[in-house]
Amino acid sequence: MIALNVNGQDRNVDVPDDMPLLWVLRDVIGLTGTKFGCGIAQCGACTVQLDGQPVRSCVLPVASVGSRHVTTVEAIGATPSGKKVQQAWLDLEVIQCGYCQSGQIMSASALLDRTPDPSDSDIDAAMSGNICRCGTYTRIRAAIKQAAKA
Ligand code: FES
Ligand code: FES
Repeated sequence: MIALNVNGQDRNVDVPDDMPLLWVLRDVIGLTGTKFGCGIAQCGACTVQLDGQPVRSCVLPVASVGSRHVTTVEAIGATPSGKKVQQAWLDLEVIQCGYCQSGQIMSASALLDRTPDPSDSDIDAAMSGNICRCGTYTRIRAAIKQAAKA
């Protein structure tokens, strides 16, 4: 049994130590907002936060999470940065197909937590690991700037 704290709730999951956190979240706990894309830490679709830091859950063995708090897109709107990011995403209609957007929002919220007024290069550096096949990058950058001013 592995103990996790996910979105503020303590959970005990009976899974192998090396199961990626992504599968625990989606298949065991039922939080399907976090997406599977590449499975090799290259696309960012599976991004969640551990103690506020964005991580790729597709390559993170669940046993390595330890006591760090897991936050997924289902709960990011309850944080000050996450709330601003989600509102900006709605205001600027960032989303196209939506598949990558959960991961985008998790990375953008983490960026604003550590850099409240990010420059273009701050945004590019923080978001470079989140790939969007629909090409929403221009609107993502604009939404991050709007969220920073909110
Ligand atoms: S699914 Fe994890 S980075 Fe692509
Ligand atoms: S909105 Fe479709 S992949 Fe990003």
